[in-house]
Amino acid sequence: MSQTIKHNFGAGPGILAPQVLQQAAQGILNFNNTGLSILEISHRSKSFLQVLDETVLLVKELLNIPGNYQVLFLSGGASMQFTMVPQNFLKTKAAYVASGVWANKAIAEAQLIGHTQTLASSADKNYSYIPTNYTVPADVDYLHLCSNNTIYGTQMKSLPNSTVPIVCDMSSDIFSKTINVADYDLIYAGAQKNMGPAGATCVIIKNEFLSKANTHLPSMMRYAIHAENGSMYNTPPCYAIYVCMLTMQWLKSIGGVAAIQKTNETKAALLYQEIDRNALFTGNVQVDARSLMSVCFSAINTDVETKFKLAAEQAGMVGLAGHRLSGGFRASIYNAMPVSSVEALITCMQQFENNYKSN
Ligand SMILES: Cc1ncc(COP(=O)(O)O)c(C=O)c1O
Repeated sequence: MSQTIKHNFGAGPGILAPQVLQQAAQGILNFNNTGLSILEISHRSKSFLQVLDETVLLVKELLNIPGNYQVLFLSGGASMQFTMVPQNFLKTKAAYVASGVWANKAIAEAQLIGHTQTLASSADKNYSYIPTNYTVPADVDYLHLCSNNTIYGTQMKSLPNSTVPIVCDMSSDIFSKTINVADYDLIYAGAQKNMGPAGATCVIIKNEFLSKANTHLPSMMRYAIHAENGSMYNTPPCYAIYVCMLTMQWLKSIGGVAAIQKTNETKAALLYQEIDRNALFTGNVQVDARSLMSVCFSAINTDVETKFKLAAEQAGMVGLAGHRLSGGFRASIYNAMPVSSVEALITCMQQFENNYKSN
C-alpha cells in the first residue's frame, strides 16, 4: 500500500535529514563496521571518544567558535540550563527578558536561586514581538535572552547593547543562521530541533566566564566539572551525541551555516508570502519579529481552522498544530526541512483556499 509522503513540521523533536536517519539506523546495527551497536559500546572506548571529539570540532567549525570557548554536551535538556545558569553565575542579580514561555521558565528557575530583574516583556501582546525598548544595567551578573521563541514564532534580529555577559537560549534556532559567538558568554540549546535528537544539550561557554562560576554546587550542576572532564564526568548521552555528529557532518556537506541560512530565508519568505497573500490565514506576530524557524499563523475563523487541519493532515502535513498556549498553526521549518516540503504546504494552503471558496 502506498503511503502519503509526510512533511514533518513538528516543533521538536524535529525533522532530521534522511541520510542522517539512515546513518543513525546503521550505527545502531553495526557501528563503523565494529560488529557492535553504538548503543552498546563504552563511552570511554576509543570509538566513542572519536565521535565526541568530532562532534565538538564540527560545532566549533560550523559556528566559527573562537579558541577561548568550550563546547560541552550535557543532559537534562534546555530546561536544566534554566537552573544551571543561575546556579553557576547568579551572585547578586541577573537580568532577563520575558519574550515567551521558555524565557519565563528560565526566569522562574533563576528566582529560586537569587535576585532577578525582568527588563522587558512582550506578554502584553501575547509575545507577538521581541521586546527591544530597555536598557541593560551594568551591575547584573548576566543578561539572559531567548533567541527564538518557539511557541510564538518570534526571533531576535539583533542584540541589545550590553556591557554584561550575555547568556542565550538558542534551542530552536542554533545552526540556522550565522552568529557571532564572541557576542555571547554562554549559549545553550537542546539538540532536538536543529542539531539532532532529544537527550543532548549543547553548551558553548567562554573560558573567562566559566572561571567566574560559583563552586559550591553539586558536581553535576557545575559547568567547570563538565568542562574539566570533556563532557565525560558522567556517562554522556552517547547516541544523541552520535546523531548530532551525523547532523553536523550533513550540515557541513551542504555548505555549512551560511548556506543553510540562505535556504532557511528562502523557505521562510515563501511561506510568509503565502500567509500574507491567502485571505484565509493571518500571521501571528509582528512582521519584524518573524522567525525563520517557527512560522506561526492563524485561520481567519474556527471553520477554516477545523477544515484546514483536516485538509493538511490528508495532504501528509504533520505537526502543524500550534502550541496549546497560542493555538492556530505552527510550521517549524528547521534546517532539515526541504524547500519542497514548504512548497507542498503552500500548495495545500492554495488548494484549500480554492476549495473553500467554491463550497
Ligand atoms: C526555546 C526553547 N527553550 C527551551 C526549551 C525546553 O527544552 P527541553 O525540553 O530540552 O528542556 C524549548 C523546548 O521546546 C525551547 O523551544
